[in-house]
Amino acid sequence: MALPTAPNFLPTDATQTKAWRALTDHYINLKDTKDTLKKWFAEDPERVQNFTFELDQFLIDLSKNLATQETLDLLCNLAKEVKLEERRDAMYAGKHINTTEDRAVLHTALRRPASEVGTLIVDGQDVVADVHQTLNKMYAFCDRVRSGEWKGISGKPIKTVVSIGIGGSDLGPVMVYEALKPFADAGITARFVSNIDPADLGEKTKDLDPETTLFIIVSKTFTTLETLTNARCARTWLLEKLTEQGVIDGSNVQNAEAIRKHFVAVSTALNLVEDFGIDPENAFGFWNWVGGRYSVDSAVGLVLALVFGPQRFAEFLSGFNAVDEYFKNTPLRQNVVALMGLLNVWYVNFFGVASHAVLPYSQYLHRFPAYLQQLTMESNGKSTRWDGTAVTSKTGEIFWGEAGTNGQHAFYQLIHQGTQIIPADFIAFANTAFASKDADLDVHELFLSNFFAQTKALAFGKTADEVRAEGTPEWMVPARVFEGNRPTTSIFGKELNPRAIGTLIALYEHITFVEGVVWGIDSYDQWGVELGKQLAKQIFPAIHNDEELAKQDASTQSLVAFYRKNRR
Ligand code: F6P
Repeated sequence: MALPTAPNFLPTDATQTKAWRALTDHYINLKDTKDTLKKWFAEDPERVQNFTFELDQFLIDLSKNLATQETLDLLCNLAKEVKLEERRDAMYAGKHINTTEDRAVLHTALRRPASEVGTLIVDGQDVVADVHQTLNKMYAFCDRVRSGEWKGISGKPIKTVVSIGIGGSDLGPVMVYEALKPFADAGITARFVSNIDPADLGEKTKDLDPETTLFIIVSKTFTTLETLTNARCARTWLLEKLTEQGVIDGSNVQNAEAIRKHFVAVSTALNLVEDFGIDPENAFGFWNWVGGRYSVDSAVGLVLALVFGPQRFAEFLSGFNAVDEYFKNTPLRQNVVALMGLLNVWYVNFFGVASHAVLPYSQYLHRFPAYLQQLTMESNGKSTRWDGTAVTSKTGEIFWGEAGTNGQHAFYQLIHQGTQIIPADFIAFANTAFASKDADLDVHELFLSNFFAQTKALAFGKTADEVRAEGTPEWMVPARVFEGNRPTTSIFGKELNPRAIGTLIALYEHITFVEGVVWGIDSYDQWGVELGKQLAKQIFPAIHNDEELAKQDASTQSLVAFYRKNRR
């Protein structure tokens, strides 16, 4: 396949731009300045105002980043020189910016309103019309299940949905399910099975009633080893349990009927879904222009529409769309989405940071860091640019995190006093679903005080004199000093609702895109996951076959030998 040749397809080498050189000098001037943040706050009473942005229902405070107005100007110059806006527009227009797979990248089309049907024709397809046709089919199905009209094989309504998928077909749905739990309103709960470790399916089904359980098999390709294996095991579990309970007689006819009533699928490969025994009427499609890690707002989110209802799913999509519109229409210098992506580049390429923490002060967002790991690292963990040439700078920082305040009692020590700079995003909400009180103390306010306190401590620290004034023995003073100057961004929402979680996801999708464009990489392929999959298939027969085992390297042979000796 030849490299697509449309005008803006060749990456610009960011390191050879004027802006990069200017940023290099700018960094040299800043890097040794201690107390920079303290100084900038003291010198500029408008710093907070100048670095604070509104994004839909969120306030985003960039003021505690290691950046001045000049830094942001230079980063925007860099964005211009690498043609960020042109590439953004090419993405929204459905150009094949996923060069190694020769595909359009159109997750933004998944959330376009129905009023835009007919406005985006890509590769001969009316994309928005297709999206809404699938949404309508999903919503009609959800209404039937939620109202109890859809019944299992024994005539009982569905109480539990088990979503089987992995990676992008799992992490988004789980994360949003956890995030929106207070909005579940139809008496349906969900469970998620992803790992091929039999313990995952076993634990998730062991107390379930098959008569009231619906399985959703979610797989873009419908070939993924883990998902298809788990799907087959789930099918066996269902048929065995229903037979044991005397609901079906185990005949082919009754088995097929049970599968039709208890299995639905989400995939781009609808022919494979039918081969599995799932009624094509109950299969929900999406398209190869949606990457797995960008798919929670497609039919991949069916479980969410089942648990929370079509109306809430539509609100979820509206949050994404608000960010898409903002990112497309806001000039770069005022565009907080672009600025956050550019600041990440600033830290990775000039400060040399290796990781970025994401710290939600919301228990409901406890799976958000795990979700972001796939979004960001599968997208930007690359060494080759989109034209096949080698990258010219560092790419792809490690994203990680944990819900606050748990993280405070675990790894914050390293963020506060370690030798590495770790930029951190703090996310919180003004309102909570549970406003519990301890006597007359508002626990949510106590929680939020931690959110406020941590970014303050990281930015402004504590000096040796302040430590001494507390009566600390002199030898111990250095251990208790907080040098500050540790960069953070505060993302503060009004409430964690369907629209807000859509907004947050889209924010990070576009941040990832911005970083990818500067580095010149195709953020939408994932060739790096292939080798391990191929080797697992090759090694599987070697577990019991000596001839096959002899073909393996010495370490693999030794590990398999240990397994053979110890397997009970
Ligand atoms: O891990 C690689 C990957 O291809 C991800 O990109 C994807 O989200 C996941 O596997 C699952 O793939 P599928 O939805 O095709 O089962």
